[in-house]
Amino acid sequence: MTGRLRTSAMRIHVGKESALTCWGRLILCVMLLNCTQYLGKKAPLDAAEDLHSYANNADVRVTHVDLDLHVDFDVKQLRGNCTLELAGESGELVLDTRELVIDKVEAAVSEQEFLDVEYELGEHDPVLGAPLRITLGGANRVRVHYATGLGASGLQWLTPRQTAGGEQPFLYTQSQAIHARSWIPLQDTPAVRATYSARIRTPRNLLAVMSAEMLSGTERTGEYKFTMPLAIPSYLIALAVGDIGFSPMSERTGVFAEHAMLASAAREFEDTEDMMQAVEQMYGPYRWGRYDILVLPPSFPFGGMENPRLTFVSPTVITGDKSLVSLIAHELAHSWSGNLVTNATWRDFWLNEGFTVYLEERIQEQVFGSDRSAMEALLEVEGLKREMADMDERDQILHVDLRGRDPDDGFTGVPYAKGAMFLRTLEKAVGRPVFDAYLRSYFEEFAFKSLTTGEFAKHLKENLLNRHPGDVQEISVEEWLQQPRLPTKRHEPESAELQQVVKLSKTWVDGAVDTQDLPVDSWTTQHWLRFLRVLPEDLPMERMEELDKAFRLTHSGNAEILSAWFLLSIRSGYNGTDEALEPFLLKVGRRKFVGPLYKELVKAGRYKDKIQQIYRKARPGYHPVLLQTLDPVLGWDIAGTPEY
Ligand code: BES
Ligand code: ZN
Repeated sequence: MTGRLRTSAMRIHVGKESALTCWGRLILCVMLLNCTQYLGKKAPLDAAEDLHSYANNADVRVTHVDLDLHVDFDVKQLRGNCTLELAGESGELVLDTRELVIDKVEAAVSEQEFLDVEYELGEHDPVLGAPLRITLGGANRVRVHYATGLGASGLQWLTPRQTAGGEQPFLYTQSQAIHARSWIPLQDTPAVRATYSARIRTPRNLLAVMSAEMLSGTERTGEYKFTMPLAIPSYLIALAVGDIGFSPMSERTGVFAEHAMLASAAREFEDTEDMMQAVEQMYGPYRWGRYDILVLPPSFPFGGMENPRLTFVSPTVITGDKSLVSLIAHELAHSWSGNLVTNATWRDFWLNEGFTVYLEERIQEQVFGSDRSAMEALLEVEGLKREMADMDERDQILHVDLRGRDPDDGFTGVPYAKGAMFLRTLEKAVGRPVFDAYLRSYFEEFAFKSLTTGEFAKHLKENLLNRHPGDVQEISVEEWLQQPRLPTKRHEPESAELQQVVKLSKTWVDGAVDTQDLPVDSWTTQHWLRFLRVLPEDLPMERMEELDKAFRLTHSGNAEILSAWFLLSIRSGYNGTDEALEPFLLKVGRRKFVGPLYKELVKAGRYKDKIQQIYRKARPGYHPVLLQTLDPVLGWDIAGTPEY
């Protein structure tokens, strides 16, 4: 992700200079001085203020969201209304919105009756959207009638050609981090949890699914009802609509996908039930009822998204050999870390992702063995180190400073791999049984709560560190949470398997091992990734060709291997992949793959016109959050026109 600093959210209004008295100027000077001092300092760990929401949730909180929406594929718009139930007292309710068209706002005057109330849509901010200020007059329910905007950042509308079936359109939402506000007016902050219900109307031949219990079943009627009776943060509200089928895997797990993908997905993910039992045994019961997986079309910008009861995944994790199912372990683990215990603000994001990566590895170890989980952990940490090598120090901090920035800027390897490394270091210090008991109590204590980094640090000190002072004396929590770089006292994952691969790769480069003697038959995806990532970037063309001929890497069906191979090809100047690159970039929209590829292509310089041609063709099929990353790389402006 980019480290762009956006200042638009930090406007300070000082009023008319001429009207200021001498005293006024003095007071203003002192205020500004304080302000600059504050900017230079680290914000306190327990800062609970959410800088990415306009909501006045300290005064009045949304407790339930009821959606009634019509899905209109012709104009690419969700239309209808949303009724919010409120707790607390305030004359005004402030909601988050982004590019919503508000028709009217009503407040309940009795059980059934709603009357129009006054509202005001504030100024639009490029990161935050616009506040919707509603005059409450004592009401505890409001209803907003609205429609979504054309560029809604939380929606992707796919044409039939962008789907596997090729006949029906597809819609899906992606609300994390602050995109729920682009399709629902609500308090879009992870500090607020609400239950939700929904009625969704679609074309009759399509099925709607949500991150909730399906009250209407899977029969296609064009009208679907859902309920989520457990309180969740807004970023977990999710909807998808398409020509979707279902295949059960166990009593409580199953797969939703386009029909062409159903059988292969169900086979790939058949260990999901085992994974669930593994976490339950370690950290307590799965609280959400069912756990289903929805396979999205390939333009989905993420690997996975932990929408409760219904994880969304990219089809790029289906390889036929289960080699990338750690992603399911990851999204499943969020059912504890993230969905049950939630980051209070986006600067506490590492609480969601660091814990989840730690849990993911523990699941992988139980289900697939410690060799496999060690390889996965090592690849992750190696990736982090590469990324940190040219990362701004500010972004290397777990409790990252996001003032004036888009929370999507915090999506780096730091909250994930550095966060998990902190927990692994603690585990090694106190021993696994002690650490597991601690984590179990953490999930119990904070279940259905949103938590700041400071609250976590306090809990950790009281319940683990102070009870095992001898074991943890070399670990500085302050250093882990508030300093850049990786602390020297840390636990590094080790994998003898992958060490062997590094050696082999070197001997192959030196010519001491022949290509046909590489033991690739026993290699998994993880071996290949390590092998490719340690090859020198200036490998001669003939050697690249040799590898390609022997192992058909350019034709790999595994998107992880393929994108690592593409990157190496671009860097080393090997042109054997040129033909295959375009169809990949036209089909796949996963940011992790597509982002680095475009960046390398631009850097390489030699494909200038060709890249612009490809981007022009691919762009209409990319998700809004991917465009946010790619437009600046390719020199396009927000309106979608090249600036060069
Ligand atoms: N919750 C994240 C995805 C996310 C984070 C979306 C922040 C928007 C903003 C999800 O759990 C995740 O971490 N996905 C990873 C895969 C995982 C195996 C590391 C991804 O998509 O790359
Ligand atoms: Zn995650």
